[in-house]
Amino acid sequence: MNIPKPFKMLPKMFGNASDEDLASLDRLTDETGSEKIKEIIDYVKTIIVKLKQKGYGECLSFDLGLVGRLDYYTGIIFGGFVKGLGHSVLLGGRYDSLTEKFGRKLAATGFGVTVDDIFDLLKDKKDESGESKPARPVRIALTKGRLETKTVEMLEKNGIDCSSLINKGRKLVFPLDNGRFEVMLVKSRDVITYVEHGVCDLGIVGSDTIAEYGSSVYELADLGFGKCRMVLAGTVKYKNDPETFFGGYSKKVIATKFVNVAKRYAASKKADVETVSIEGSVELAPILGLADGIVDIVETGDTLRENGLEIIEEIFPVSARIVANIAATKLRKKEIDGILSDVFKV
Ligand code: PRP
Repeated sequence: MNIPKPFKMLPKMFGNASDEDLASLDRLTDETGSEKIKEIIDYVKTIIVKLKQKGYGECLSFDLGLVGRLDYYTGIIFGGFVKGLGHSVLLGGRYDSLTEKFGRKLAATGFGVTVDDIFDLLKDKKDESGESKPARPVRIALTKGRLETKTVEMLEKNGIDCSSLINKGRKLVFPLDNGRFEVMLVKSRDVITYVEHGVCDLGIVGSDTIAEYGSSVYELADLGFGKCRMVLAGTVKYKNDPETFFGGYSKKVIATKFVNVAKRYAASKKADVETVSIEGSVELAPILGLADGIVDIVETGDTLRENGLEIIEEIFPVSARIVANIAATKLRKKEIDGILSDVFKV
């Protein structure tokens, strides 16, 4: 799909209230040349400058990639974060046409606060007898196995000594770059869980796992390795022929580790399929007659070939990505930016 450049710029357009970051917002105005965009950007800048003058500059950041889950917002949306929690505790925005649906037209701005989270945090603080903990290093959850090897190669190339990670024994936590950051080795699915909950700030994981589980983390960069493809595969009679696979009157059964991906894919084909969740060696399912096809990743194609299966259709290309906890991109922006540019060179 050909995505226009301004849309591609949006997820990377976040920053704090520094003059430099605020000036970076003008790049979007320049790129689009749109008066409407200029008006919006100037409005955001004015709000930030005014709050800065009132002494709140240290707590502010903007994010043009923020998307509200509710579709009634008609203008700015905002969130509030606190140290120690990986998600927002306050969410709200401008909604000018919502009340109209209930009989009275009133422009409004509102927000909700998750009181339970704040109480939990206050309770934790009390348990620590008021002493604030020193900030821990940035934590990176790294997918064990193939991506681990490729990531270590990349880090070493970029001048980071990874000998502790190479001779790791049974250890799972590795301070690197003189303690500037820590790497923890986990399974792909768990990268998303640790980053989502904010106990790790960054994660390195395949875009296949993000597509399946990663709706609540930020994807910051494509590392360009760990390349493979998500495909629909099956017996030779369906080779390169998704129409025949999804056609006919019988409901097809798809075996997969990627149930959400498979369901979305089938929905895009307007096909009613049954999915069967299989944890590994999913190629066995059509061979044993449990399923008509599989949705799985293919790298060399050897596993399919050696088991008499063929690609029916490619769904999307896969590669390793850096993901971030949403709150960490606000609260630890400088450290994360530094690690992305010095350590990963992205
Ligand atoms: C993955 C995938 C395929 C295989 C594809 O499995 O699920 O089975 O690799 O690779 P290829 O195209 O190079 O043959 P993995 O090795 O991760 O093990 P699993 O089946 O236990 O998930």
